[in-house]
Amino acid sequence: MDSFEFNKIAGGVLAGAVALLSINIATDSIYRPAALEKQSYIVEGVEVEAATEGPAEVAKPIAFYLASASVEKGEAVFKKCAACHNNEKGGAAGIGPNLYGIVGNSHAHMAGFAYSDALAAMKGKPWNFDELNAWLTSPKAYAAGNKMSFAGIGKPEDRAAVIAYLNAKSDSPLPLPAVPAETAPAAAAPAADAAPAEAAPAE
Ligand code: HEC
Repeated sequence: MDSFEFNKIAGGVLAGAVALLSINIATDSIYRPAALEKQSYIVEGVEVEAATEGPAEVAKPIAFYLASASVEKGEAVFKKCAACHNNEKGGAAGIGPNLYGIVGNSHAHMAGFAYSDALAAMKGKPWNFDELNAWLTSPKAYAAGNKMSFAGIGKPEDRAAVIAYLNAKSDSPLPLPAVPAETAPAAAAPAADAAPAEAAPAE
């Protein structure tokens, strides 16, 4: 094989490779699969972490979780808060304000504490169960610009537990909110149906 013939063959191979490469690039840009937004294979019985942490949880009101919340568990969850918050009666402020009796109390309740403008602007509005739930889900989303450096509690059970615990740390704990009928445990339904109409709680 003389060098001219070799060059012809090498050139051909190179041209082929370039052609293949460009076809590859072209088809890739046409057929590149879009990222799946949802899992396409759902395995029965296997929990998907992202799905259970997502909006599905938000659908149930905190009253549902409060109904079975444990104050002891809430005391354990409060360890996350204790670095910044004292919750004993008359206790001093730490990095955050004292939280004794906070459930039902006003936003920015503690006199003398240097609240952010975000929380100070909400003064007078009561910290009811729903407000506390929203705050503890994401302080940042609840009051942009607030100065509580805490990401939030992902699990509704844990939020309910710590709220129930805070409610107990009070001179006058609030009655737990009623669980809306559509989220009440199914077992409670037949009993309620069987009860005479006049026994229904006045709301
Ligand atoms: C890193 C410190 C820090 C941690 C941890 C923390 N907080 Fe706070 N918290 C603060 C600060 C600071 C404020 C005041 C925020 C402001 O003024 O914007 C605050 C405010 C609050 C308020 C509003 C009080 C009022 O008077 O309006 C509540 C309720 C609260 N925190 C509950 C909690 C709970 C419950 C936890 C634990 C799950 C927690 N915080 C964890 C620092 C913290």
